[in-house]
Amino acid sequence: MSFTRLTAAEAAALIKNGDNIGLSGFTPAGTAKAVTAELAKIAHAEHEAGRPFQVGIFTGASTGQSTDGVLANEHAIKYRAPYTTNPDFRKHVNAGEIAYNDMHLGMMAQDLRYGFLGDVDWAIIEVCAIEDDGKVYLTAAGGISPSIARLAKKGIILELNAFHSPNSKGIHDVYEPLDPPYRKPIMIEKVTDRIGTPYLQIDPKKVVGVVECNIPDEARAFKGADPITDKIGQNVADFLLAEKKRGIIPPSFLPFQSGVGTTANAILYALGSSPEMPQIEIFTEVLQNAVVDLMFEEKVKCASTCSLTVTNDKLLSIYDNIDFFKDKLVLRQSEISNNAEVIRRLGLIAINTAIEVDIYGHANSTQICGTKMMNGIGGSGDFERNAFLSIFTCPSVAKGGMISSIVPFCSHVDHTEHDVNIIVTEQGVADLRGKGTRERAEAIIENCAHPDYKQLLWDYLKIADKGHSCHKLSAALAMHDTFLREGDMHKTNFAEYVK
Ligand code: COA
Repeated sequence: MSFTRLTAAEAAALIKNGDNIGLSGFTPAGTAKAVTAELAKIAHAEHEAGRPFQVGIFTGASTGQSTDGVLANEHAIKYRAPYTTNPDFRKHVNAGEIAYNDMHLGMMAQDLRYGFLGDVDWAIIEVCAIEDDGKVYLTAAGGISPSIARLAKKGIILELNAFHSPNSKGIHDVYEPLDPPYRKPIMIEKVTDRIGTPYLQIDPKKVVGVVECNIPDEARAFKGADPITDKIGQNVADFLLAEKKRGIIPPSFLPFQSGVGTTANAILYALGSSPEMPQIEIFTEVLQNAVVDLMFEEKVKCASTCSLTVTNDKLLSIYDNIDFFKDKLVLRQSEISNNAEVIRRLGLIAINTAIEVDIYGHANSTQICGTKMMNGIGGSGDFERNAFLSIFTCPSVAKGGMISSIVPFCSHVDHTEHDVNIIVTEQGVADLRGKGTRERAEAIIENCAHPDYKQLLWDYLKIADKGHSCHKLSAALAMHDTFLREGDMHKTNFAEYVK
């Protein structure tokens, strides 16, 4: 069977107001982008003509400007799940215009299959090769493609993107679990174990057209490491090596998961570069530039990920050196890369970045001052809740020192104290394992808070009512409130909040 060729505009014209579209990819890596850019033009024209035009969007994780960015700017998104990093999308979410559903990424595909989120009308899937019987080869990410392809009621649009080399065939392990009560164990026992197929088998009769394009991925380069992120990375590496020395971590080490962003990238580089660290293994959802460099340097032995969220030069260097990578690198669906069963079996060391943590160890990964969405929870909950060791890192201050990242009470909680073992800032490490609440608070203030804010946090503990977690509720968010009113947490005066 040879498939109908469509232009991106023709394919976009099939999508109607109110439809839900499912997209391939995970982060901007591997995201379908030709059709959504045309969809934004349709939305613009419809709105100019006074007609409504909005779609729902289901993705693996974030996308790039050609999807979240242009569609949000054209007010064309009515609902979206699960994760996003796009600044334009963020602006429209925080203006209250979009129903944004921030979900654990590992649960997205199954929640769609369970019918929790409504129908998938269209699947738009980026591929690097297509066979007549419906075998397609994904590009830079596993995402939720098998499930959206199977669920799509109105059809599948394939974006055949020549930017991605067909050399990458074989890098994927495509596997979609059965749903309860028929689910089988997911038999990944080692980082690079394969349990599926290198291709995605779709129903060829559901393909409404193939859009040929040549569009680079839109993954951005993160800010470079700086002395603060380097120090956090060093603190993490020193802590883990000490854990190995005292026999908590086995001599061969355990696989790492590391989150997104500048801090995460710097930590992995610090870990991989440490002369005392054995060759490391990575089991994660997002592979960033640092890991590719460390694989070339043979400091990282192998990696399993859901996406190659790397700059385009790095992506092309993987495609160009596919023989080097083919036994060392595997791309999986997000429900496998982030699967609780597999994470616990492998015993991951999970390291993710928080926006703020509180003195009892709750962590906020998503919302600035409790109301403004930053990116979303991503896979941080999937990994931290199930890891062998759950580590959160953050610089001790933000916004030029006007904000303390260690606060009496998080303004929003994504990860509870029950899921957080270790907190690391550039100031030091708080090990919360085996500690009661008071001891946790002391360890976090003493080891992680910036010296400018330590006294303020001790003062809070003094005014707190006694209890299991000691709080003075009227003052618990005083530091945030002072920042919002005066632009500086240093000016917090707890006495004003104590009734
Ligand atoms: N209060 C207000 N703003 C804060 C803040 C705080 N306590 N802490 C950080 N910020 C701001 C920074 O100032 C920066 O703002 P800017 O973009 O205007 O400069 C922004 O948040 C990002 O912080 P940065 O220090 O550059 O960190 P990062 O690139 O390491 O990203 C997260 C940090 C938390 C945003 C990022 O890790 C994230 O999105 N995490 C959630 C998803 C996740 O954990 N996925 C993991 C699985 S891969």
